[in-house]
Formats: sequence, structure tokens, C-alpha cells
Amino acid sequence: MHRQILDGIHWVGALDWNVRDFHSYHTDRGATYNAYLIQDEANALIDTVKAPFKASLLRNIAEVVDPASIRYIICNHAEPDHASALPDVLAVIQNATVVCNEKCRGILEAYHDTAKWTFHIVKTGDTLSLGRRTLSFLDTPMVHWPDSMMTYVPEARLLFSMDGFGQHWCTSQRFDDEVDLRQLLWEAKTYYANIVMPYGKQVSKTLEAASKLDIGMIAPSHGLIWRRHIADIVQSYQAWAVCKPAAKVLVLYDSMWENTKHMAEAITEGATREGVEAVSLFVRGNTGTRIATEILDAACVAVGSSTLNQQMMPAMAGILNYIKGLRPVGKAGLAFGSFGWGRGGAEAVQAELEAMGVEVLADPIRSKWRSTDVDIDGCREAGRMLAEKALAITAATT
Ligand code: FEO
Repeated sequence: MHRQILDGIHWVGALDWNVRDFHSYHTDRGATYNAYLIQDEANALIDTVKAPFKASLLRNIAEVVDPASIRYIICNHAEPDHASALPDVLAVIQNATVVCNEKCRGILEAYHDTAKWTFHIVKTGDTLSLGRRTLSFLDTPMVHWPDSMMTYVPEARLLFSMDGFGQHWCTSQRFDDEVDLRQLLWEAKTYYANIVMPYGKQVSKTLEAASKLDIGMIAPSHGLIWRRHIADIVQSYQAWAVCKPAAKVLVLYDSMWENTKHMAEAITEGATREGVEAVSLFVRGNTGTRIATEILDAACVAVGSSTLNQQMMPAMAGILNYIKGLRPVGKAGLAFGSFGWGRGGAEAVQAELEAMGVEVLADPIRSKWRSTDVDIDGCREAGRMLAEKALAITAATT
């Protein structure tokens, strides 16, 4: 079912209620693939959807106009969640011109047989008149692929922001003021942490370019449309783009016979004080999606693993590999873990923290066989030290 979002501009996308894995992103609220139809002297479609949802897209368009009347299909991004329906859509809308940037065309040509497609290549600053409205294009490379582009409609004060400002949240509602704001910002933070975090510098450039635009609505390609809480999401992006630290200590651990778990509990207890948030996550009880979201604004991290075959435990290795790829910046922390006849777990964790650029504050905290009271006291003290450090980092960045 389509929904008009502004006079003559309609959401015509698709709802994927039950997707739970989006290239390893745990989408426990599903996802949407937003496409938009602009009715004008020349009708334009802003993006398509994931291929299995092409019928939904075409049905939604047909509720408003004859799909064959669409003159332009703007492809802001070639990733398959937005463009894999494009070949089938073009089979129906045969006279449409695909409007995209040069990098996007290259990716589309790699994915699809585009021999019969008509392209119109654009770049930042180019415009395309639809009649009463104008499309203005803004390249936003790496937000979140090299080809990513946003499209602005000045007459409507509307920015089609592609992946930027999106969330994986499938709901029958379409606007930010129709859902709980705290939940929406959490979903936006989760999306940012798991999709966009590696590209903070490019996000800052995009925000700078977008700040020159008069924006009354931001329509992303996933989730809810921003119309009332634009300042909230823009300010959040400004903070997330630099991993702005909160006074928060994240304790992340895996444990074999609960010794490392007891160490984690003591560190968390030590870090718990007024003005500091302490979060403790067992890696095999939490998704990488949640862990990445928590690390985005954590000033300090304590990461622990029991030793297994002279290494950290495999679930922790997988999580740290994932987090390393997301490139969080500005963290301080330490490693910890228990061992028996041979060391290796905590040491391997520390090596990974160093590889991530974490400021390592101390040698690994180790406990042999069974944590003694002295070991546990040391962990509590380490937690207190991390809380102090988190406060100091936060004070230095505000
Ligand atoms: Fe929603 Fe980068 O695709």
C-alpha cells in the first residue's frame, strides 16, 4: 500500500517483516526497502527494492500512476537491497531512463545485463527538472558504498538520503512522529554502528554538505521518514560520525568454566558508579549487532576470554574480527581472562585491541585455574580505573 508523504510524492516501497539476517546484521524488527514516486510533468521513481519485492513495488506505483508513465528511475545506490529489482522494473517501465552516477553505473553493469538500458549519468551539483520540481544530486561516497548518492528536491525541502539516516525497522508507520522516538533513535544507532561506522569521515563530509540545504524532510531508504525529529537524528549522526564517547564502560567476555565470567562481573561492579554507565555482555548470549551498537559510544572497553588451545575462544575471535572491521575510534581499555596449563586467551585479546587502535591501559589481567579473592579485587580495581578513564575521556571531548 502506497502512502503520500508530501503533495504528489509517495512512499511506494516494500515491507520485509520477517527478515532476521541482513548480511549478518541481526534485524529482529525486520526491514523496509523504501522507494518513492514523484508525480510531476515527468514522473520519477526514487530507487527500487530488493528483487523478491518487485511485485509489491509495482503494485504500489500502480495505485498512483500507470508504471509505464515513469520517465526517470533514480538509482541512488546499486546495492541489491535497493537495485536488484531494477531489471524486472525496467522490463515493465521500458521507456524509463536510469539516472545514477558513474560508479553506480559500473556496479549495475557488473550485476545486471544493462545492454538495453538508457543511462543518464550525474554527479554532485547536477540537476534534473521534472517540470514543477527539480532533482539535485549529491554524491556521498562510502555512505555506504562508493556509488552512494543522495537526491534533493528543493521545492519540497526533501532529501532522499539513501542508507544515511536509515534504520532496520519494519512497521506499518512511515514517519518518525508515529513511533517511539527513543526506540527509533536506538534503531538508527544500531544501523549506523553496523553499516556506516567505518566511514565516519565520509559521514562528516556528507553532513557538512547537507547542512547547506534547506531540509524539511529526510526520506531514507530504510525505515522511518524524518519530519519532526530532524535535529535529533542530525545531531546523533554528528556524534556517531566521530564515535563521540559517553561515560560508559563496556565489559565484553567469553568464558569456559566461569572464571572469566567472575572476572567480568568484578570489573563491571568496579566500573559501576554514579555518572558512568557499565554494560556487561557475554558474547555467546548477544548478537554482534548489539555489541557493535554498544561499542559505538563506549569510552572504555574491557574484553576478556578464557584460554582455549592457547587462543581466545572462537566466539570472541569472531566478534573482535567483526568489530575491528567496523573501525571504532577513540577507545581505551584492557584485556583479561583466565587460563589453566597454558596461556594465550587474554594475550590474544590484547593483540586484537592493539590492532583496533584501542589505547591499552594495562597488561592483561589474568587468573590461573580459579579466580582468587586477590584476582577478583584486582578486577574490581581495574573496573574503577576504567570508570575514571571514561569520565576523563568524556570530559576531554565535551
Ligand atoms: Fe541499504 Fe548499502 O544498502
